[in-house]
Amino acid sequence: MRIAIASDHGGFEQKQALVAYLAEDLGCEVLDMGPDSDASVDYPDYAAPVARAVASGEADRGVLVCGTGIGMALAADKVAGVRASSITSAPFAELFRQHNNGNVVCLSGRFVDLDVNKEIVKTFLSTEFEGGRHEGRVAKVMALD
Ligand code: RB5
Repeated sequence: MRIAIASDHGGFEQKQALVAYLAEDLGCEVLDMGPDSDASVDYPDYAAPVARAVASGEADRGVLVCGTGIGMALAADKVAGVRASSITSAPFAELFRQHNNGNVVCLSGRFVDLDVNKEIVKTFLSTEFEGGRHEGRVAKVMALD
């Protein structure tokens, strides 16, 4: 699976760890879209390339990390074809996939431990969309693009 990932300064440290986790532990192909340091940056500048990579099919899924995960989700969801959400627990990651067919997970680098975020990412990548009654609901969401 090809994963696009980026952060801002609030998520940089965890992003670096998650790049290694995705490649070495989960066997993913990783597109690290920056930044390269923890210098202060604006999260929309990093959410946009990841969201566009997922929307275009260049990446299968996206991972974004900022201080809370909230700003990244707000920005990524502006890109047509993206279903992004701030996720703070593995059970929510599972439901985000099963019910919402989420394709960009947004994590908190400041309020959620790295171990929990690793579990969220693993769940996000390994859980299938249930379809069925959720199919039409997600289609209605996408019709709002
Ligand atoms: C940056 O200080 C912070 O606002 C950002 O990382 C994020 O939490 C925004 O939602």
